[in-house]
Amino acid sequence: MTETLGDLLDRAAACGQRHIVEAAEGLDDQGRSRLAESLARVPWDDWDQLHALVVDPPAAAPPSAMRPPVACTMAQIDGDALKARGEEALHRGAVAVFTVAGGQGTRLGWNGPKGTFPATAITGKSLFQVQAERIKAAVSHYGQPVRWYIMTSDENHEDTRRFLLDNRCFGIDRTHVQLVQQGMMPAFDATSGDLLMAAPDRLALSPDGHGGAFAALDRSGAIEHMRHRGIEHISWVQIDNPLVRVLDPTFIGLHLCDVTSSGDFSSKIVGRAHAAERVGVFVQTDVGMQVVEYSDFDESQAAAVGDDGELVWRAANIAVHLLSVEFMADAAAAGTGALPWHRAHKAVGYYCPAQGDMVMPDAPNAIKLERFVFDALSRAQTPALLEVQRAEEFAPIKNASGDDSAHSSSALQMALHRDWLRQASVQVDDAAQVEISPLVAQWAEDLAGTPLPDQVSADAPFVLEHGSA
Ligand code: UTP
Repeated sequence: MTETLGDLLDRAAACGQRHIVEAAEGLDDQGRSRLAESLARVPWDDWDQLHALVVDPPAAAPPSAMRPPVACTMAQIDGDALKARGEEALHRGAVAVFTVAGGQGTRLGWNGPKGTFPATAITGKSLFQVQAERIKAAVSHYGQPVRWYIMTSDENHEDTRRFLLDNRCFGIDRTHVQLVQQGMMPAFDATSGDLLMAAPDRLALSPDGHGGAFAALDRSGAIEHMRHRGIEHISWVQIDNPLVRVLDPTFIGLHLCDVTSSGDFSSKIVGRAHAAERVGVFVQTDVGMQVVEYSDFDESQAAAVGDDGELVWRAANIAVHLLSVEFMADAAAAGTGALPWHRAHKAVGYYCPAQGDMVMPDAPNAIKLERFVFDALSRAQTPALLEVQRAEEFAPIKNASGDDSAHSSSALQMALHRDWLRQASVQVDDAAQVEISPLVAQWAEDLAGTPLPDQVSADAPFVLEHGSA
């Protein structure tokens, strides 16, 4: 039953949030209904536990008994057999793409959903367009529609919907694209643990993390929709990696191969680039596989090197997963306690009733709480890991400049595409600017049979588009 504003204000007062009760006093009817909507997002039943996590967090530490996980490399697996297995699933239409695109993209500082960010090196195609072209290529290759589920948040849902419609979903049948809106969580004052307000009639809310996907997929009916359509697995990708192979048949084959995997949760990894790389790392514990955040390692652990000269904790998470629909349904059914909350200390603008105005802090003042998908790994029976080449599959755009920026991503995209052309016997200048559309090639071998020049120089950018060769 929906709670009235009065009920919700009683709950707020019982949890010591009197500033919200006071703010409600000056509101008109519309404001009161907006405030009720906002307050209904607060998990009041878990208040004590969440408040304690905000003001008195447990010390972060990696699990005490952990060892490097077993991961398959492309050299170890029977790539042809696994690819055939994965292709069979794709021919049946049993795999959908699920893109998580509900984040705030704070580090990038782009005004709009991250998926609308221009990402390719020369033509500046958006991140959404790149994924759409990869899906379109798969549709024509496998002769099956591929459903594309995209997670959005309250903040970017409408802009995402409009962008995709304005661009006719970049050639994908509109009825095959479904947006799934994730949940929102309140931001807390980092010192007092009080809820921050964004206005007298609104709490400061932010998306509940990519781990909010299970509840969002369930709540929106997407899980039922998938079952109905014969979709058995989803290929989980993030929006901000233009090199991500959204449907990789070999990885799908590995996920479905019962010798290596229980087929519920599989992940791709790359070797960690260096000891200070800010990336989560897969570890094996006695109670299952986990991802440990870089910030939980101390310096010596992060830098530990094994007898083989490699970093011990090297299985870097690039957030590319395969999950079975039934696994996601179970995780959603397990409810709110299934995944832990993680804290993020961030600068959040807030409405200050005493000043009657907004305050924009220039240092982190708030705690946001998020859930992470990889915490569901502990629910998986035998998760499989596939180690892939970073240069081929990972060029994320996270930051406005420096590492993992549009600039570094473009350089990586161009280096890969130069390499593909060279493998196809084209002479390519080291400084040549090159971009190859996913509609032409997603793998080096896709260039076989494509008419190509003998040489690509640095004099003019070289773009290989569908129909341009
Ligand atoms: P990030 O952790 O990089 O977060 O998300 P972000 O929100 O994009 O960027 P910052 O941290 O604010 O700078 C990794 C992926 O997970 C999605 C993002 O859209 C991105 O594809 N994500 C993240 C969600 O879908 N929802 C969330 O609540 C958080």
